[in-house]
Amino acid sequence: MYNTNKKIIGEIALDGDKSIAHRILMMASFIPETSIIYNVPNCLDVNSTKNCLKECGISIKPHFHLIPSLEVKGGTFRNPEKPLDCGNSGSTLRMMLGLFAANGLTGKFIGDESLCRRPMKRIINPLIQMGVSIESNNFKLPISIESNVEKALSLNKKINSAQVKSSLMLAALAMEEYSKIPYDIDTRNHMELIYNFLDLNFRSTENIYVKKSKFKKGFRTQIPGDISNAAFLIAAVLLIPGSSIKINNVLYNKTRFGFIDLLIDMGANIKIDNIDDRHYEKMCTITAQYTKNLRGNIEINKNNIMRMIDEIPILCILATQLEGMTVIKDAKELRIKESDRIGAVFENLFKMGCDIEEFEDGLIIKGGKKLYSTNINSFGDHRIAISFEILNFLIEGKMTYSFEKIIDVSFPKFYEYMDHFIK
Ligand code: S3P
Repeated sequence: MYNTNKKIIGEIALDGDKSIAHRILMMASFIPETSIIYNVPNCLDVNSTKNCLKECGISIKPHFHLIPSLEVKGGTFRNPEKPLDCGNSGSTLRMMLGLFAANGLTGKFIGDESLCRRPMKRIINPLIQMGVSIESNNFKLPISIESNVEKALSLNKKINSAQVKSSLMLAALAMEEYSKIPYDIDTRNHMELIYNFLDLNFRSTENIYVKKSKFKKGFRTQIPGDISNAAFLIAAVLLIPGSSIKINNVLYNKTRFGFIDLLIDMGANIKIDNIDDRHYEKMCTITAQYTKNLRGNIEINKNNIMRMIDEIPILCILATQLEGMTVIKDAKELRIKESDRIGAVFENLFKMGCDIEEFEDGLIIKGGKKLYSTNINSFGDHRIAISFEILNFLIEGKMTYSFEKIIDVSFPKFYEYMDHFIK
């Protein structure tokens, strides 16, 4: 159980959502006019996308503004002269492959150790079906692509990865005929919203249909605050007596709101207001306060997991503090994220004395037990690192090191915010 006397109090607007940032940067790069994108997060994953695009001849420069902003001028791509380094970012790699297909580019992709372990078959196979030549290390990095899309795609099986769906939506822009991309309705819909915003040849029913489109003119847009980063702060606030936080201009999108919806359902003291629906992505203010009796006994399964897939590590931390049992099923995907997140959560929590069981596709956590401080293994995974930093704070743990470099992948300001808001 927690034993800190400190509390978290503050009001904040977070840097832009990483998932949206990748996509909006890539889409702006198709447009010959200048686009201005406000609130671009300066995290390593998004920087990987930025660098890859620059290597392909796209101009991306800082735009002077109160919040970090970029000017992107695109329209003409060239083949990169050196291998493109996607770092830790699966989104960069998967979606850049689609962007290469859309623009007939040739190049080679590399990445860090974690990315080199991740399977890419789900994206490579459909691209090969479209006629693209791809060489890989048994469906892993390094990947060389020589893009020559010959036919539109007509898939029958639903895609249950937003990265793959978005990548194929990009590749489909190469052809005059519509590609058909069946997809799981719960996968995040940021690309669809951008396609509508840019008025491309696109429609979505139970399938997505996309074909070659004219990019009209440059745009200005603000990326809403990162809801996955908000989730960490909200979880901490709910658990620590006397804490409260107000998060302004944060993303409000049902495909990303699973964790917040679940918390509200558990009786969390959370208020959503100032919903701003003037833009293609909505924003809101989330106010969260310490909640004494959060309801335990929760079950995560195929019906609700997709909309909170990146929040499962922090949900597990929360589960250790709840009375009752948290059951996480149908979560096999977590084994192929930046680390094996099921294994990573299990190993760390088990070491700390948690009542936890591991299954191939999930975990069962019985909460309420006293946990012991120990050095955490982040497995080089940013979301594991941040989740366990929060648990460490909660139990006033005595870790002998922190995870500065790792958290830079998605939430470089995490430690700064914790220092600032901890009273
Ligand atoms: C993402 C989709 C999810 C998520 C990842 C970001 C995206 O992955 O886990 O962090 O931006 O589309 P999958 O597409 O593999 O489900």
